[in-house]
Amino acid sequence: MKIAVLVSGSGTNLQTIIDKLHNDTTSGIEIAVVISDRKKVYALNRAKQNGIPTKVVRAQDYEDRVAFDQAISLLIDEFAVELIVLAGFMKLFQSPFVKKYRNRIINIHPSILPAFPGATPVADSLAYGVKVTGVTVHFVDENVDTGPIIAQRVVPVNDTDTEEDLHDRIQIEEHNLYPKVIKLFAQGKIQVSGRMVSLSDSISDL
Ligand code: GRF
Repeated sequence: MKIAVLVSGSGTNLQTIIDKLHNDTTSGIEIAVVISDRKKVYALNRAKQNGIPTKVVRAQDYEDRVAFDQAISLLIDEFAVELIVLAGFMKLFQSPFVKKYRNRIINIHPSILPAFPGATPVADSLAYGVKVTGVTVHFVDENVDTGPIIAQRVVPVNDTDTEEDLHDRIQIEEHNLYPKVIKLFAQGKIQVSGRMVSLSDSISDL
């Protein structure tokens, strides 16, 4: 199965997908293209170092956000992508894009949704004083971090945690969980009915 990974930053999740899926010839999963909305982000180096095609599509180069989405859609279709994997991608898609790829766009978010959606979930969680947080993998819908939830993992918060400490521990769980969800999707083992998502296999068995 061909996937696209969309990035805006450092790309540690991209790296784990490269290592655990793309570079494992038995996985049946190929990253056909890495798309970034910013030039010169480290995620693009990670793709290039592994011989994966890269494309930069910047919102400011298009007349509006629908046209920006359309440019990404052309790449998705050109590379025959079946699953769009957002990995630190900081742009929201407009409704025509979401409709076209309904239940074929997934995102990873560093909180237990619906708590702490948005751009600064780790800082927001610490500021609120929660004792546990974690990671959510979900399908993308028309709103911010509201789509059907596929999998979640809990991470305890320590009293002494800085934002960086906590994000580092959440990322360990992200790197463990995201490739497993992608693998389940590729195997046709994720069923969606409205908001309800069921998995044919337990993720912990993979
Ligand atoms: C991750 O924490 C992810 O949950 C969030 O953005 C971050 C991306 O990190 N959506 P990286 O670029 O994969 O290291």
